[in-house]
Amino acid sequence: MTLPVTIDRMKTFYIETFGCQMNAHDSEKVVGTLLQQGYERVESPEQAQLVLYNTCSIRDKAEQKVFSRLQQFKRGAGKDKLFGVLGCVAQQEGERIFDRAPHVNLVAGSASYTKLPEMLVQLETGNRRVTGLDLDTGETFDTPFTRRDNPHRAYITIIEGCDKACAYCVVPFTRGPERSRTSESVMREAKSLTELGYTEIQLLGQNVNSYRDPSPHAWDFAKLLANAGAIPGIRRVRFTTSHPRDFVKSIVDAIDENPALCNHVHLPVQSGSTSVLSRMQRLYSRDEYMRRIEWMKNARRDIAITTDIIVGFPGETEADFHQTMQLAEEIEYDSMFIFKYSKRPNTSALQLEDQIPEDEKTRRLMLLQERQRAIQMRRNGRYVGKTEEVHVEGYNVATGQWIGRTSQNKTLNFSDAALPAPREAETLGGKYTNVLVTRSGPNSLAGERAREVYVQ
Ligand code: SAH
Ligand code: SF4
Ligand code: F3S
Repeated sequence: MTLPVTIDRMKTFYIETFGCQMNAHDSEKVVGTLLQQGYERVESPEQAQLVLYNTCSIRDKAEQKVFSRLQQFKRGAGKDKLFGVLGCVAQQEGERIFDRAPHVNLVAGSASYTKLPEMLVQLETGNRRVTGLDLDTGETFDTPFTRRDNPHRAYITIIEGCDKACAYCVVPFTRGPERSRTSESVMREAKSLTELGYTEIQLLGQNVNSYRDPSPHAWDFAKLLANAGAIPGIRRVRFTTSHPRDFVKSIVDAIDENPALCNHVHLPVQSGSTSVLSRMQRLYSRDEYMRRIEWMKNARRDIAITTDIIVGFPGETEADFHQTMQLAEEIEYDSMFIFKYSKRPNTSALQLEDQIPEDEKTRRLMLLQERQRAIQMRRNGRYVGKTEEVHVEGYNVATGQWIGRTSQNKTLNFSDAALPAPREAETLGGKYTNVLVTRSGPNSLAGERAREVYVQ
């Protein structure tokens, strides 16, 4: 059979990924699928025949990035290339992307990636307007071809989409309704990762707490977590993200009972004011959120708690903001991502009046950042003098230190007098060792290796 001429010209691809860990992991699956289809990955868009952008739409700035990338290739430079927009902006904008950037040839959202091989064939046979925009496919995108980027920590999607309707958020529109994978399929993937040498896994979903095993086992998230932590060879299990409304005490109990489950929970609060939370349609009050925090503070293990905050949501008063500042002080988060509210298409918050001016949002963001920095200084100071187990991630030539991560997800840089450094980086990466913490800063810890042997 003779193949159409276009095929040979398209066999190299480049992909750039924006957004959250789910997008990063989707790209790993997309890359695996492309390689399996005979494509070769290249490191720059200039070298590639097929240029893919896996996009994020969570805030306006994120959305703009892909259009500025596409702009660079509008004429001349991009003449012989094919362009594909994947992910959340693709789903949100759909075929309008072809109008905004006519040199785009493929627009596909995350719920249609199982159809990638067919879409590639369409491109290869000359179709220049290929789309995959079905949201309600009911499918989860798990593929045996995933090509993982991180050699030490492997992502596993357990649930896709989101059934919540937070007033500011595009995700329910860009990723569709919730679909959980069967526990059997998740466990199979986790076990196969141990065979590849992975000891740390991270379970992913926009809301992992609403995981419901669709098989007759009917596991909930806590059960899935406990079982993942019990897999021989798995030393660390992380998970993200938890929605406070669906966060139940059995998750904390599971962490208490199994040291393989990392003592870190990311529990985005968004605001410390119940009235803002209610306008955000977050489905919990400040008190209900605090109850979840108390479960963690009362746990046997020292659980690190991190969060996301949106400042300047429409109608957020100075008093509301003050409550967020107080909440931060009361909880003493280990880390916090703070965002300025950004208006997003389709979301219900677009209807709300009383927008907060940009410079006021900036003022609140900076005040909270400053407060949080002091809190982290204090919190991290408590680790000085303690010994922590780290998973070694690599070696920093500039500082002459190894980079490790604690179970609480803190970066712990350490030196090791006995170790003949950089050359060993590859063999030490992925191992575990104990480190005595000697110094602390707001964003990381530093220390010295405490024991003779590295394990695993
Ligand atoms: N599913 C996760 C969060 C996904 S988005 C959850 O429910 O926690 C990650 C973070 O981006 C959110 O927690 C929120 O703080 C922020 N975010 C989402 N939409 C935003 C918007 N329109 N403007 C500013 N920040 C936003
Ligand atoms: Fe967005 Fe809310 Fe769903 Fe999180 S829970 S993805 S913030 S709608
Ligand atoms: Fe962005 Fe989509 Fe993730 S909007 S944050 S890439 S779910």
